[in-house]
Amino acid sequence: MRETSGGAARTMGEPTPAQRLLARSVDWGRAPSAHNTQPWDVRADGDRTLTLGWRPERTLPVGDPTARDLLLSLGCVAETLAITAADLGYAVRVRWSVDRRRAVAGHLELEPGPAAAKTDFTVAEVRARRTARGAYEDPALSAAQVRQLTSDVGLPDDVGLPGGVDLVTVPSAVVDRALPIADRWSFDGPATGELREWLRLDRRATAYRQDGLTDLALGLSRAEALGLRWALRPRVLGVLRRTRATRLLAATATARPLGTVVALTTRDAPDDEQTAVLGRWLLRSWLAASRRGWSTHPLSHLLDAPESAALMHDAAAGVPVAVFRVGVPAQPAAASHRLSDPSAD
Ligand SMILES: Cc1cc2nc3c(=O)[nH]c(=O)nc-3n(C[C@H](O)[C@H](O)[C@H](O)COP(=O)(O)O)c2cc1C
Repeated sequence: MRETSGGAARTMGEPTPAQRLLARSVDWGRAPSAHNTQPWDVRADGDRTLTLGWRPERTLPVGDPTARDLLLSLGCVAETLAITAADLGYAVRVRWSVDRRRAVAGHLELEPGPAAAKTDFTVAEVRARRTARGAYEDPALSAAQVRQLTSDVGLPDDVGLPGGVDLVTVPSAVVDRALPIADRWSFDGPATGELREWLRLDRRATAYRQDGLTDLALGLSRAEALGLRWALRPRVLGVLRRTRATRLLAATATARPLGTVVALTTRDAPDDEQTAVLGRWLLRSWLAASRRGWSTHPLSHLLDAPESAALMHDAAAGVPVAVFRVGVPAQPAAASHRLSDPSAD
């Protein structure tokens, strides 16, 4: 028997388009998220509609008190959902309407036919992208090369922000001043405990294959991983802080050469919905970089530590919403794990 729903005929018992998309979590679940928390909660609530929400226990209330990284991460998963839907022959319309109390970010509608947005990135590209935290090759990318990325992104008018969106190259002198401040904040600031919670340094633990930041993804040797695990134990960290040894930890936190540091910048401060759209834009810029053979590494702590955030604001001449480095990695990066990986159980 056939039933009609949303205009298209479907055999009874066949999965709906929304269910088919949900079932492809091995693809759309490759979206990046801060600390690899994978905070999204995606549910089919109609044949062609899905609700995108989040799981509060997978957010970072201390490190991300404004929920900027949460909304960006939800934008990233909306983008991988759109790319996966295009692979199934559907365009996705995302209606953002963020309700922080109910932990709902918005709704997705699937329409048959070509993608409404220029979704020309492929599922294979989504699966191949990874954050590269090691050294980048010299010479760093030029500002002109970074500008090429902006035109590659291909989601120009969707953002609804007057003044648009730009990728601004941060002068290296500013990065050299700001990064040590931000790296130190990672070990001395309020969010160190949260970072510790999402570190996955024990390869035998089930969570190692599911989420968080593994030693391999962080590019740590076994000895470095053991050292970090020891250093971040609450009592040890207290001693390190008192003796100011956290400065030494911070000094080795970000690999060098850095490559080029860029800020995703808007003219005015974005609201919640605009921040989520910027997450789509951000992921598209990372995919566009991969297509050119470049890797990316977000440096959110530059915006989290108040002193380095002020330097970034001045350098970006606008509102920096995300900061990342981009360049040719000296070493290929390890893949990170996902809850949706077949080997995650
Ligand atoms: C909004 C956002 C902020 C992030 N901030 C950082 C960061 O400050 N430092 C870092 O090393 N990685 C950062 N990441 C990268 C994530 O840790 C990474 O995406 C996640 O671990 C999954 O790994 P993958 O990108 O290799 O798939 C961020 C990612 C997103 C989406």
